[in-house]
Amino acid sequence: MKKDNKESSYEAIGVLSDPISIVAHQMKNPLAILKNYLEILREGRVGEVNPKQKEYLGDSLETVMKMLELVREFLEVSKIEEKCFKIEKEQVDITHIIKDIAKNYSIWARANNSKIIFRSNKNIPPVCTDSVRIRQVIENLISNAIKYKTKKTGIIEIKLERKNNSVLLTCKNNGVSISDNDQSKIFSKFYRSEDAVRIQSSGTGLGLYISRAIIEGSGGKIWFENNEGDGVTFFVSLPVAVHSLGIYRCN
Ligand SMILES: Nc1ncnc2c1ncn2[C@@H]1O[C@H](COP(=O)(O)OP(=O)(O)O)[C@@H](O)[C@H]1O
Ligand SMILES: [Mg+2]
Repeated sequence: MKKDNKESSYEAIGVLSDPISIVAHQMKNPLAILKNYLEILREGRVGEVNPKQKEYLGDSLETVMKMLELVREFLEVSKIEEKCFKIEKEQVDITHIIKDIAKNYSIWARANNSKIIFRSNKNIPPVCTDSVRIRQVIENLISNAIKYKTKKTGIIEIKLERKNNSVLLTCKNNGVSISDNDQSKIFSKFYRSEDAVRIQSSGTGLGLYISRAIIEGSGGKIWFENNEGDGVTFFVSLPVAVHSLGIYRCN
């Protein structure tokens, strides 16, 4: 519930003036309504559906959800560009968020012959970031790791460590490496490497661009390195919340 309220408050922020964001804004509500109706139909809440109908409704629902995601990304990009992308910093239990996301993504990972392994040091302190938007960053890292694997089995290793006044999140996967030519571009808007497009046709190239705005807006850093063998490791460093008088603060 909290998440919905917060997300709708983001929407009210800022003056969206470019044509893409106006269209995206106009599409968001009709798509959300369509998604609800498709869910109701697929669940058989207004009459029995046969397996074929259920399959088609499921496919339609997936398409609508992809469109909603695209619309959300367009709106966020225009907010970043119009400098009204708001990060609401608060203390966040990043361990809990990663566990939750890893659990949610494990089914998709398994369907793609991939495995998510999460290792965390004990007593990771709360970090300062936006509790809703940080999920987006982690979800994008994990979904990229699942999408851009080349081997039969994908291994995604997520680790959390404390480093002085920061918490370092690493997300390492086997799979495609990022060529010298692409290295300076992958955080750019709409950029997708040729290898990425060949392996996985769906994608917008907006995930890392938005992630960088979220992490830098939280006072952190995001970067990557190619692994020694194959694949890539992404690093996200976030400031630890200040601990004083028995409580953690972010401001
Ligand atoms: N784990 C990864 N392995 C290899 N390349 C990656 C990985 N994550 C991101 N990339 C590269 O960075 C690009 C941008 O990522 P992103 O912004 O999330 O866009 P998308 O997921 O839509 O392709 C990808 O298209 C790909 O070229
Ligand atoms: Mg992505």
